[in-house]
This record gives sequence, C-alpha cells and structure tokens, in this order.
Amino acid sequence: MNKKRKELLVSAISNGTVIDHIPAENVFQVFKILSLDKTKHQVYFGTNLESKKYGTKGIIKISDTFFKEEVINKIALVAPTATLIEIRDYEVASKVSISIPSKIEGIVKCFNPNCVTNMEAVKTKFEVLFDETGEIKLACHYCEKTTSKKNMTFFM
Ligand code: CTP
Ligand code: ZN
Repeated sequence: MNKKRKELLVSAISNGTVIDHIPAENVFQVFKILSLDKTKHQVYFGTNLESKKYGTKGIIKISDTFFKEEVINKIALVAPTATLIEIRDYEVASKVSISIPSKIEGIVKCFNPNCVTNMEAVKTKFEVLFDETGEIKLACHYCEKTTSKKNMTFFM
C-alpha cells in the first residue's frame, strides 16, 4: 500500500473503479447511466465534495467492477470532466480521462418533437458532432435534425 497515507473523504477500495471529478449535480445521472442502481457490488459515493480544480465534485467508487471503454464513455455528456481510475490491490493501476464517444444511443432525447423516437418506442441514436465554437451537438440517425447542448434533455 501507498506509504503516503492521507485521509479520504470516501473510503478507499481494494479493487474496482473510482469515477472522480464528476460535476456534483450529475452524480445521480452517472448512477443511472451505468445502471449502478442494479449492481450487487459495493458502491460508495460522495457529492458536493470540495475540489481544488472544480470547486465542488462528486465521486463514485464501485468494488470489483471494471468498465469497458464504450460503457464508461456513455457518461461523457453528463460528466466530461470525470477521471476513471482503476484500483487493484489498493493501488491506482490506471487513471484516464473520459472521452466523448462518436455515437450515443439512448440517454438523450431527440429535440425534434416529430422524430420517430418521440412518437414510437424507438431508441434514440445520434452521431456526435461539434459546432463552430467546439460545443457538442448530436445528429439524429432517424430525422437528421441536430440537438444542441442547450437543447439536450436526458431520459433520466
Ligand atoms: N482511491 C481509492 N482507493 C484506493 C486508492 C485510491 O478509492 N485504494 C481513490 C482516491 O480516493 C482518489 C482516486 O482514487 O479519489 C485517485 O487516487 P490518487 O491518484 O491517489 O488521488 P489524487 O492524487 O488525489 O488524484 P487527483 O489528483 O487525480 O485527484
Ligand atoms: Zn430525431
């Protein structure tokens, strides 16, 4: 174990995943997107914690669980600042930033009220694009309308 012991706000885990630097207000969306309400593993979390970098943050720790890249990247829309940390035998084994995926399925509603995804039980599907200011926008696979960041509403 690390010699340099320090007090952790949320207790250390021996093995599993830590998702750090989540915007405090989006911690529960991350829970839903990753289906953490259904896991049988131990989950610890904190929100409105102090962060030097962001003011406040949320953190989630899931024991004995490691996420595939395409699964973890689903949280990019609600937690673009998040860091994914894998813990093995109490040590930080890897630490990476979340990347924005090129496609998003489900999670976000299509902005177009006439889109098939808003009329029938069809799961939304978008291609991720960026506008001229670098802001993310989502191009619908079905109606081809784009949903800008400010128009995004989430299913959960
Ligand atoms: N952590 C944990 N269990 C462990 C080891 C680390 O839950 N056995 C968590 C820590 O709480 C921290 C994260 O994993 O949130 C990263 O650990 P570390 O790199 O030691 O923390 P910091 O240096 O504070 O990371 P950063 O500067 O990236 O915020
Ligand atoms: Zn659409």
